[in-house]
Amino acid sequence: MKFFVDTADIAEIEDLAASGLVDGVTTNPSLIAKAGKPIRDVIAAICATVEGPVSAEVTAIDFDGMMEEGQALAGIAPNVAVKVPLTWDGLKACRALTQRGHKVNVTLCFSANQALLAAKAGATFVSPFIGRLDDIGYDGMELIRQIRAIYDNYEALDTEILAASIRTPFHVTEAALAGADVATIPPAVLKNLAKNPLTDKNLDGFLADWKKTGQSIL
Ligand code: G3P
Repeated sequence: MKFFVDTADIAEIEDLAASGLVDGVTTNPSLIAKAGKPIRDVIAAICATVEGPVSAEVTAIDFDGMMEEGQALAGIAPNVAVKVPLTWDGLKACRALTQRGHKVNVTLCFSANQALLAAKAGATFVSPFIGRLDDIGYDGMELIRQIRAIYDNYEALDTEILAASIRTPFHVTEAALAGADVATIPPAVLKNLAKNPLTDKNLDGFLADWKKTGQSIL
């Protein structure tokens, strides 16, 4: 399973990328707004930090505007994946952008039928939003399971499922069990994946016993 970081905070990305465990980055207009800098500067800096796909989202809602913005974003760096919303114009733009050789992440996916359309439009990634479905009482993980089952029925559908709107380490586990290709994870959640109180407790125990030996490995 690939791990993308869901943030536009370059300091967070640099810190996490140093682990070698980060396979890409996703941003969205809200995350760019939070970064407080021009989108082109933010995306260029992220693309220089991470080799993998970096999602940069258009803000136009019409096909022509999406094409103009999408090609401008794609021109920032070779590893830009243009993010378009799962609307009819977004699907048309997805098809046109992929035909021009660009990677496309179709975002704001909330149903299996939407994901089926994204794959038919040639999307590189589709982003089903788990947390935002959970927020309104639906089972966001069930959507991941449905999309996985549908895509696996048709060899021609090679869009990667990018599990998004992830709020907890449990979401990551469940998305992996459901067969998502990618999880895009907020920095704090990504760091928490490594944490377990039993690891800390038992490491302390090992080190306490080691200290008693008076030995040094070096
Ligand atoms: O960036 C796309 C998605 O991951 C946003 O998640 O937490 O704002 O619902 P969230």
